[in-house]
Amino acid sequence: MTDRPVLGIDIGGSGIKGAPVNLETGELATKRLRIETPKKSTPENVAKVVGEIVANFADQIGDGPIGITIPAVVTHGITRSAANIDKSWINCPAEKIFEEHLGRNIFLVNDADAAGAAEVHYGAAKDHPGLVIVTTLGTGIGSAIIHRGVLVPNSELGHLEIDGHDAESQAAASVKDKLGISYEKYAKRLQRYYEEVEKLFWPDLIVVGGGVSKDASKFLPLLKLNAEIVPAKLLNSAGIVGAAWLAVDRFEHPDLLLPSTP
Ligand code: BGC
Repeated sequence: MTDRPVLGIDIGGSGIKGAPVNLETGELATKRLRIETPKKSTPENVAKVVGEIVANFADQIGDGPIGITIPAVVTHGITRSAANIDKSWINCPAEKIFEEHLGRNIFLVNDADAAGAAEVHYGAAKDHPGLVIVTTLGTGIGSAIIHRGVLVPNSELGHLEIDGHDAESQAAASVKDKLGISYEKYAKRLQRYYEEVEKLFWPDLIVVGGGVSKDASKFLPLLKLNAEIVPAKLLNSAGIVGAAWLAVDRFEHPDLLLPSTP
């Protein structure tokens, strides 16, 4: 790993946030910068905002790689889905667009996969020797599956079909807000969701991230599961930190990864 801080950028539906990360500690080296996501959040418009964030931290990060998260499936640098973002990301060579716009090596990764990597390297699942599932409860549900520190990318467990519904349409944190229900009622939805996740994957540890994890004491104790279930530790820096870690890992071990599509 590198001595210099590495820039991580987290693209979300309402804000694009970035900060240089100290990869020794997993902490932000400088306060993060947040810029509103453009109303029309096309790849080109988002790349411009990402460019502003990179320019803002250019002095600190040198010319190293940058990690960027996106709430979409990413295979070989191509974004394949767009559950809660502009549909123009579907089948878009997004990594290449960012690389051309920024003139740097970019690693583009699913937002929940980045959060999972951060929790496993620095947070609630640090050095866990078994099977960890990290879920992020927000506008949608994101997931990361990590076994003995190795990420299995693009797991998309927010889209499991449960009782005839797309799981995130029933159990994302945005559903709690939209319906205005209590944490007790929301916990019943989470119980059904995590039961199904357990039945299929049998994780040793489930980590719950996303904005609601700050209130974890109000709903996690109500869940009855086989696996231990704990709140995430990195809260709103998880995406930034995980993206930075994965970017360095990718460019330090290019031989271990399938190449991005040219
Ligand atoms: C998307 C995932 C994303 C998650 C959290 C889901 O709707 O399909 O790719 O990780 O939302 O943003």
